[in-house]
Amino acid sequence: MVRIFFDNSATTRIDPRVLEAMLPYYESMYGNPSSLHQFGTEAHEALEQARERTARALGAEADEIYFTSGGTESDNIALQGIAFANRRKGNHIITSNIEHHAILRTCAFLEDQGFRITYLPVDREGLVDPESVLAAIGKETILVSIMAANNEVGTIQPISEIGLMAHEHGIPFHTDAVQATTKMPLDVAKDGIDLLSLSAHKFHGPKGVGALFLRKGLDVRPLAYGGGQEKGIRPSTENVPGIVGLGAAIYLGISEMDEEVGKMTSIRERLIDGTMSSVDGCQLNGHRTRRLCNNVNFRFENVEGESLVLRLDHEGIAASTGSACSSRSSEASHVLKALGLSAAQSRGALRLSLSKMNDMHEAEVFLQAIVKVVEGLRALAPTRSSGSGCER
Ligand SMILES: Cc1ncc(COP(=O)(O)O)c(C=O)c1O
Repeated sequence: MVRIFFDNSATTRIDPRVLEAMLPYYESMYGNPSSLHQFGTEAHEALEQARERTARALGAEADEIYFTSGGTESDNIALQGIAFANRRKGNHIITSNIEHHAILRTCAFLEDQGFRITYLPVDREGLVDPESVLAAIGKETILVSIMAANNEVGTIQPISEIGLMAHEHGIPFHTDAVQATTKMPLDVAKDGIDLLSLSAHKFHGPKGVGALFLRKGLDVRPLAYGGGQEKGIRPSTENVPGIVGLGAAIYLGISEMDEEVGKMTSIRERLIDGTMSSVDGCQLNGHRTRRLCNNVNFRFENVEGESLVLRLDHEGIAASTGSACSSRSSEASHVLKALGLSAAQSRGALRLSLSKMNDMHEAEVFLQAIVKVVEGLRALAPTRSSGSGCER
């Protein structure tokens, strides 16, 4: 039985080299990095090497990197941290309506706390217009937060233009780069980024560990209080093996990025062209070219995405209807809605997300399976037409 994993935007398999780097920090080098003895020193040095590697991957300084428990916590510290520390300056935040729930639900909480949030719309391909950021900026604006690339449809945002707009008005710019890290170049200086969130399990590192880049000099209030770890921004004894894993994964991901991005892009293109030419009534969601190298998101007419996922699973292929966090809920995707799709169109969505561990043979297996699966499902609903109805 084949076992193909095309759900790498939900999470990835750990790279064996990353696991190998982590193991000693469970087995023999298990000290607390705050301790003064040899065990502590070893752990502290490992932490600092991971910080150095993370900083280098982003063009940042090591002392601008804070380790967290993942993308969600990094996003929360960025938004709540800036909001509560800068309340005297203003109460307005700008974001987009296709952000991950880690941003959107934090914004909803901040609205309850009296902040005003502007949710910028996107175009049909999922792009934020930098001019709309400019138009939304006011005297009260204290933060702009726009994701680097979308987790559902893969659209890559013009973050350097958006960063520039924010900076022209002296406003810090945060980007959720959870899906973008190691899939596209990121440079906090060139892209005008002041805060950036990332998460290790999206690039072959361990789950439950992330990082936040905070430009020096920013005023940020922590979410929790305790010991002085991570300069008080994220107190609690550090997850040393996890952080070592993050450091190893980002180091490998950046060193091998050019080659792996090229490979994923070829598989992505084969999946897009192959599926659209062999299955009637299939459209691509998101931007045709400004998209992550590892993202494919289709919508199929007259087929439910959930049924597709289950049938494909039966064929040994793991895919998803949208983001991992919402795939067990029956709510229509807020991202597809923001792109202007109807509820019926959104229900036919299927996301395939690749990693460096996929190969072209797996794409060919998928292409064989998808024709059979879609035809089988449409045959079960003969009253509905399966005509092509192309909107291209
Ligand atoms: C864009 C984006 N932001 C944030 C997160 C949350 O990351 P984590 O699962 O590490 O908390 C995800 C996870 O899917 C994501 O795709």
